[in-house]
Amino acid sequence: MENNEIDWKNLRIKAKEAAKMAYAPYSNFPVGAAGLTDSGEIVTGCNVENASIGLTLCAECGMVSDLHRKKAGKLIAAVASNPEGEALAPCGRCRQILIEAGGKELIVDGPGGPKSIVDLLADPFTVDDLNDRDRIDP
Ligand code: THU
Repeated sequence: MENNEIDWKNLRIKAKEAAKMAYAPYSNFPVGAAGLTDSGEIVTGCNVENASIGLTLCAECGMVSDLHRKKAGKLIAAVASNPEGEALAPCGRCRQILIEAGGKELIVDGPGGPKSIVDLLADPFTVDDLNDRDRIDP
């Protein structure tokens, strides 16, 4: 699906709604994430923090868990947002998690508008690298 065919307005609303369910008492920075899949479904998640701080789950992680739980296919578009509906740049770890769920065709919204995941995560390590056995020295 092309960028201009994606209903970004609806996806941003879903991310904003999800952000309101966040558990973020330590950072006070609630985040929601919403994704559109190739089966037309919407999947969502919110960040969930922990007293140990380092165990925080980002909103995108929750969204990818929802994707698999629903067997909703492959992500084609995704957005993370604060409760005000402003799109956020996904953190580095989440960029890697997003490319696994959507592949190199995934489009991700952010403060500067929608961008290809490959522009957000240049020269990514993906399943293609694992399958490229010629790279492994005997
Ligand atoms: N956070 C996300 O949920 N996703 C991101 O891509 C960036 C950061 C969360 C983690 C933490 O709970 C809070 O935002 C502040 O970093």
